[in-house]
Amino acid sequence: MDPYRRLVRPALFRLDPERTHEAAIALAERVGRRLPRAQIDPALEVTAMGLRFPSPIGLAAGFDKGARAVDAWAAVGFGFAEVGTVTPEPQAGNPRPRMFRLGSDHALINRLGFNNPGSVVVASRLAAARARGRVAIPIGVNVGKSRDTLAERAVHDYAAAVERLWPYADYVVVNVSSPNTPGLRDLQARSALGEILTAVLDVDVRSAEWSGEPRRPVLVKLAPDLSDEQVDAVTELALELELAGVVVSNTTLSRAGLRSPAAMTSEEGGLSGAPLRLRSTELVGRVARRAEGALAVVGVGGVSSARDAWDKLAAGASLVQLYTALVYEGPSLVRRINRELARMMRERGIERVADIRSAG
Ligand SMILES: Cc1cc2nc3c(=O)[nH]c(=O)nc-3n(C[C@H](O)[C@H](O)[C@H](O)COP(=O)(O)O)c2cc1C
Repeated sequence: MDPYRRLVRPALFRLDPERTHEAAIALAERVGRRLPRAQIDPALEVTAMGLRFPSPIGLAAGFDKGARAVDAWAAVGFGFAEVGTVTPEPQAGNPRPRMFRLGSDHALINRLGFNNPGSVVVASRLAAARARGRVAIPIGVNVGKSRDTLAERAVHDYAAAVERLWPYADYVVVNVSSPNTPGLRDLQARSALGEILTAVLDVDVRSAEWSGEPRRPVLVKLAPDLSDEQVDAVTELALELELAGVVVSNTTLSRAGLRSPAAMTSEEGGLSGAPLRLRSTELVGRVARRAEGALAVVGVGGVSSARDAWDKLAAGASLVQLYTALVYEGPSLVRRINRELARMMRERGIERVADIRSAG
């Protein structure tokens, strides 16, 4: 067994999950500026949404909400990282405890509620990181609305956050799928979502004009609890608006099939990790089939091995992200997945990650 699982994990798992996470981010922030970027097999390079990714494996949103450790993620072996969710103004999130480990299920439940330092602070951290010249991978910025913003004003929150963060983002994700901000998921309905995405695209076009820089890929992140019809409707909307892609999926409200004690599984919040894996892969396939290559699909949910990543890529994802498996397997997991994915490709005579889909 590797040292993380044998020695580090048992010690960390005696501590409160959120405190452990804070310590991990503080460590990543401190050492991240000194570590060299990980060596990644050139066969893993992916071009998607007009960007070049050294590996299709990325850090999912929510791990580095405040963009504190952006220098570290290339050193860990990630091919890209998504910071946020960022709201226009800082907010504290829900009362603690609000993050729970479901060890027997290799899962987490969280109801953090978009705790983040706000768009001004995140913009300045990203600006500083870029000025240090150590951001070696694409950085996505995931935006959301503040808890206290009324649904009818939500569009302003998304536009304001994107306006502030646009200069420092390689791509932008509109998050309408967290279960921990009341009413947020209702914004996935076609009319509300259409309005938000149109406003964000407008900011994108204007920012590109003013700065003379290229437009940024804009994506929308979906909940796994949508019905098939709702998923199809959002995919159609994304196609009509010519979005760059869709992130599938956020955490689930479902508690089906869990082994952990009821006292744990009954905690309110979004469930992530292994129990989400198949549902999210199924959704990746659904969106990818309908999009027929016109949208990049970012597959996320329960990925903890190269095989899991492979399944998402085979279902039609261009890129993959993970969060919960880092908690259970430690940071060396990312380099292991990179190595193993390259080996699986070589074994099957596949030269490009994009060809995994047709190889199955
Ligand atoms: C503690 C925690 C916080 C999260 N915060 C966010 C967030 O702020 N924004 C977001 O879009 N997704 C957030 N997520 C969802 C992840 O980005 C991802 O979609 C989900 O966890 C499924 O991936 P996983 O099974 O690899 O963890 C969070 C997940 C966890 C576990």
